[in-house]
Amino acid sequence: MAKIYRIAVIGGDGTGPEVAREGLKVLGAASGRFHFKYKTVEYDIGAERYLESGEILPVSVLQELKTVDAIYLGAIGDPRVKPGILEKGILLRLRFELDQYINLRPVVLYDKRFCPLKDKSEKDIDFAVVRENTQGLYCGAGGFLKKDTVDEVAIQESINTHKGIERCIRYAFECARRRNRKKNVTLCGKTNVLTFAFDLWERVFYKIARDYPDIKTDYAHVDATCMWMVKNPDWFDVIVTDNMFGDIITDLGAIIQGGMGIAAGGNINPEGISMFEPIGGSAPKYTGKNVINPLAAICALSMMLDVLGEEQAASAVEASVKKVTREKLKSLAAGKMGYSTQEVGDLVAKYL
Ligand code: IPM
Ligand code: MG
Repeated sequence: MAKIYRIAVIGGDGTGPEVAREGLKVLGAASGRFHFKYKTVEYDIGAERYLESGEILPVSVLQELKTVDAIYLGAIGDPRVKPGILEKGILLRLRFELDQYINLRPVVLYDKRFCPLKDKSEKDIDFAVVRENTQGLYCGAGGFLKKDTVDEVAIQESINTHKGIERCIRYAFECARRRNRKKNVTLCGKTNVLTFAFDLWERVFYKIARDYPDIKTDYAHVDATCMWMVKNPDWFDVIVTDNMFGDIITDLGAIIQGGMGIAAGGNINPEGISMFEPIGGSAPKYTGKNVINPLAAICALSMMLDVLGEEQAASAVEASVKKVTREKLKSLAAGKMGYSTQEVGDLVAKYL
C-alpha cells in the first residue's frame, strides 16, 4: 500500500494561516498530479491559544508532533504578546525538541525585476545557506546578575559542540554535492574575534572537507559575507554558518532574492521530523486582508515535498512558483502583487 504522509499544520499567527492555506491548496494539486497521498492534522497553537488559556506548546501537542512525517508552519509572533514568549516557546522549542539541526534557506532569484541589487540577474543569485539550528547563541545559556540595578550584568553564551558543528558541516558538503553547481562550500564565521567558537568551526570544517575532495572550500568572515552577498552573490554556492550569523545573513539573502514574500526555509532533521516555514514572520498589519504573498509558504511546501522524497512534485511546485513570479506578478510585496493571496495560490496550483 502506498504511503500516506501525515502532515501537521500549524497556521499560527497573523498572516500565517492565510499563507499556509495557499500552500495546502498547492499540496492538494500536487498530490493529484503526482499520485501521492497525505493527511493533514491542524494544531491551533500560537498567540490566540496562549492569550486564552496560557498554553504555549502543550506536552500533548509536542508528543503528537513527534509522530508525524513533517510539520508545515505558517508563522509565529503577535504584537499582543511580549517578544520571545511565542518565538522561544513554540518555534525554537520545536527546533530543539525535534533536533532539527539544519536550517536550510535557499537564496534564489526567480526574476531580476524583483532584485534590489543593481545589475544583478537570475544567474547571479542562486545559493543556499545552511544555518546550524540547535546551538550557538540560541541555547538560552546565560542569565542576569543584580537584575534591575545599575550594576546589572547580562550574560548570553554561545554553545558550540564538536558534534553539532560536524553534522551541520557534513550536511553542507552533501548539499553542495547534490546541488551539483559550483561545488563550493563557504564557511561564514568570525575567526578574527570569536577565537574559540570559530576556531572549532574552522578545524571541523577543514577536517570534514577532506572527505569531500570533489567540493571546493572557502572562508569569509560574517561581515565580509554580507558585503559579498551584495557585491558578488554569484561567488556563493553553499554557505555554512552558526545559528546567529545564519539568522542575520538569511534576512539579507531574502531581500536580494526579492523579499520576505518569496523566502522559505526548512528546519531539517535528516534522521527525523522536519518543519517548513516561510521565513518572513506573521506580518500583523496585513492579517486577514488577502494581500500577503503566499509564495514563500508555497516554496516551503516545495522544500517539504523534496525532503519527504517527492522530488518530482517538489520541482514542479518550484517551477510553477517561478512561472507565476515571472509571468504574472507585478511585485512580490504584500498588496502590490496585482493579485490577492488566494489568486496567487490558484495560479500556482493551475500551472502545476
Ligand atoms: C528566523 C526568525 C527566528 C530566529 C525568530 C522568530 C526566533 O528570525 O527563523 O529566522 O531567530 O530564528
Ligand atoms: Mg530570522
